[in-house]
Amino acid sequence: MALNMNAVYVPSQAKFGSFIGSKQLRSSRVCMASTIHPPSSMKTGNKKEPFVPPREVHLQITHSMPPEKRELFHSLNDWAEKEILVLLKPVEKCWQPNDFLPDPASEGFEDQVRELRARSKEIPDEYFVVLVGDMITEEALPTYQTMLNTLDGVRDETGASLTSWAVWTRAWTAEENRHGDLLNKYLYLSGRVDMRQVEKTIQYLIGSGMDPKTENSPYLGFIYTSFQERATFVSHGNTARLAKEHGDLKLAQVCGIIAADEKRHETAYTKIVEKLFEVDPDGTIHGLADMMRKKISMPAHLMYDGKDDNLFDNFSSVAQRLGVYTAKDYADILEFLVSRWEVEKLTGLSGEGNKAQDYVCTLAPRIRKLEERAQARAKERSPVPFSWIFNKQIKL
Ligand SMILES: [Fe+2]
Ligand SMILES: [Fe+2]
Repeated sequence: MALNMNAVYVPSQAKFGSFIGSKQLRSSRVCMASTIHPPSSMKTGNKKEPFVPPREVHLQITHSMPPEKRELFHSLNDWAEKEILVLLKPVEKCWQPNDFLPDPASEGFEDQVRELRARSKEIPDEYFVVLVGDMITEEALPTYQTMLNTLDGVRDETGASLTSWAVWTRAWTAEENRHGDLLNKYLYLSGRVDMRQVEKTIQYLIGSGMDPKTENSPYLGFIYTSFQERATFVSHGNTARLAKEHGDLKLAQVCGIIAADEKRHETAYTKIVEKLFEVDPDGTIHGLADMMRKKISMPAHLMYDGKDDNLFDNFSSVAQRLGVYTAKDYADILEFLVSRWEVEKLTGLSGEGNKAQDYVCTLAPRIRKLEERAQARAKERSPVPFSWIFNKQIKL
């Protein structure tokens, strides 16, 4: 999955360093809602202090969907079997990371690794910052499976439940698991990144979780995942394009094959939301407006490497500058989804539903305008060191 638009399209909100009590807080948007624990407060060694997540999110809303609506999702179980489970690929037909990596059991392994490293030498460090950020985002997969299992009416109640929703969630997770594996192994072999720092960041991130603001509602949850799958399709597609431009066709293939999976997953989640629009247009348009008002926070927004309190915003800035994932992409995704779900054509909505429809249908141009103004005001920022690439300085 991908990046935090808050940092990208409202740069003025990406300030850090305000304090309440002894706790340093994050961006102004979430300053009342999240806490950063500096490494000194995370000592768990000799003092036997309890572990605390490096990022904490407060003010979380739970179970906002009326309980009777859970029934709707139970009633869609057979529909999901016919329409959604068919979008999963049988394991035997799936690619595996090993298909795109030097085969350690082959004679030519060492030569293949040498070739991989020679190719990656031609790629600039700033590209690796973005690729590492994307890889770390994929590697926090336990968090995303947890997130799906927070959703009322569709969660996997046992860990091996046979409802269509639970079967989907497990198989989706299993497909996604290949993404982090492939990128991780590729980056490891490239020798271009500080793997220990990267691995620490993954551990910190999984320990912190995420705050998708989906409130246990599958309406909000599937709108969120529709947006995210498209965002990752866009960003992996762009890292593929850039790898090709830098002459690394194998890496381009790696990013491209992952992007193709994201596209298939986008098809599934957008199909679920399309069905929700069909059976409950009012509830679904409210959900879409609600998610867009809150802004879609990106899955790795609580990222931390033990050093840089602005890591996620800095990574997002580099991704924006390289054109891997930008504020324009955020607006484009919204516009794409509004058109995909034919939101403008919805009829018979309540008064509130009509308002939500107007809000959503006019939002993308407004986001673009805000972004243009923010860009015009944006001051040049000094380069920052990224621990992932041995503290080399990268322009934001
Ligand atoms: Fe993925
Ligand atoms: Fe995905």
